[in-house]
Amino acid sequence: MGEMMTDSQTEKNLYEAFVGEAKACLRLLGYAEQADKEDLPVIAKLFRAISAAERIHALKHLRLLHEVEDTQSNLERSFEREQSVFENVYPELIRIAAEEGNQPAQRSFTHARDAEEFHAALYKKALDRTMEDEEASYFVCGVCGYVTDEDPPEVCPVCDAKREMFFQPE
Ligand code: FE2
Ligand code: FE2
Ligand code: FE2
Repeated sequence: MGEMMTDSQTEKNLYEAFVGEAKACLRLLGYAEQADKEDLPVIAKLFRAISAAERIHALKHLRLLHEVEDTQSNLERSFEREQSVFENVYPELIRIAAEEGNQPAQRSFTHARDAEEFHAALYKKALDRTMEDEEASYFVCGVCGYVTDEDPPEVCPVCDAKREMFFQPE
């Protein structure tokens, strides 16, 4: 019993630590962008280096939580998450932001909701065929997070950003 309790507390702690490290990883990227804006490239580099380290911590904790499965399952889970986020989570967040008159948050949530729908579609596509031997390139809108497996459009269908805002992740 004592051992089981220890295990389950550690599982919870792994999850908490994962969330904390994942947040730190992204927060530090935000700080790096800000340092770049302030023309402090050395500090930006420091933030990016520590962010990379927090990413390692987050991924290790995640692995120990057994949340990373085989790729078929990971595609299925990812599809389900995107669907639930655009069908259930964001609509409610958008509604509340509108109610509270927080337009920047409302727009950010709306962009995310609309982009998630496209993310789900890309996962669906991957699930419906064997991707192994197919070449695919993905372009991400740097403003809203829309992703396409075709050439980047002249104008983003989610946020109207111009083609130059698209980038190809590594
Ligand atoms: Fe860390
Ligand atoms: Fe998404
Ligand atoms: Fe966009």
